[in-house]
Amino acid sequence: KEKATGKSYAKIIWFGEHSVVYGKPAIAIPIYSVDVTATIRRINAGQNIHCRYFDGPVDQMAENLRGIKTLIDHLTNLLGAKDVAFDLTIESKLPSERGMGSSAATAIAVIRAFFAFFEVSLTRDMLLKLAEIEEKITHGNPSGLDSATASSSMPIWFIKNEINEQIDFNLPTSSLVIADSGIKGKTSEAVSLVHSNLVDQPEMADPLIQQLGTIAETARQALAEADDETLGKLMTQSQQNLAQLGVSNHTLDTFCQVACQNHALGAKLTGSGLGGCVIALAKNQADAQQISTALRKAGATQTWIQSFKNYQFST
Ligand code: MEV
Repeated sequence: KEKATGKSYAKIIWFGEHSVVYGKPAIAIPIYSVDVTATIRRINAGQNIHCRYFDGPVDQMAENLRGIKTLIDHLTNLLGAKDVAFDLTIESKLPSERGMGSSAATAIAVIRAFFAFFEVSLTRDMLLKLAEIEEKITHGNPSGLDSATASSSMPIWFIKNEINEQIDFNLPTSSLVIADSGIKGKTSEAVSLVHSNLVDQPEMADPLIQQLGTIAETARQALAEADDETLGKLMTQSQQNLAQLGVSNHTLDTFCQVACQNHALGAKLTGSGLGGCVIALAKNQADAQQISTALRKAGATQTWIQSFKNYQFST
């Protein structure tokens, strides 16, 4: 082909951050409006990449982009394209280091673009295995949740090292508002904070983790029944547990309160906490707009609205 594209999405953890580390289930959801597009064009000579962090030949990519470079080298080998000249352009709407799975989304879009360009069919299993090449370099010990969500058009039900399945649901009128605090969330710091709490104060922390697991299970049921009121309550309950575990902060707490004062059915931090984003569930588009405006006034650097009516199952 002369030109091909690959797409992927931002990931948001709806339920189960932190407790997923201890074997509890999580629900993550792709955000359609926050996407990555990779485009490959045939050119006369060279192999070049154009992205937010680099513009030039693939073999001169910087050390901090080693994950994606290794993936591209692997793909050109696998597809017998070591001598094919191309330009690869990556356009990403994802902010980095906000728990939205920026690196996994990039990997998924690039893999899809390469396979489309060389007209080779790609299974979901193969896609996730290839994305792991990049994620292992960038993140060391990835759970796979980011790539599973970035490549999905449906929410994901996820248990570490066990289950990774797309789940169907139907919430025709409600939407999720996502608000970026603009603060970088330090995942490793948040994960070790929860770990020390479990070691030092198990009588406090253990039940909180157990409850987060139960909340995720109840949420799956509520999703199947399109029960947005219950989902909202479960989100607020998760936020309380996460705050008690020490991973919220003043900004995130305030965003959750502001969302709820503006008709949100519930709100919580998403991802590791200590920064990053908050999500709020809105009953309808008008409420979503109001929540989004209020969160920007409260200091959110960016907000997105994800309506649920166009989620559709695909592999
Ligand atoms: C971070 O996005 C999610 C955490 O549960 C950590 C992890 O699952 O590795 C906090």
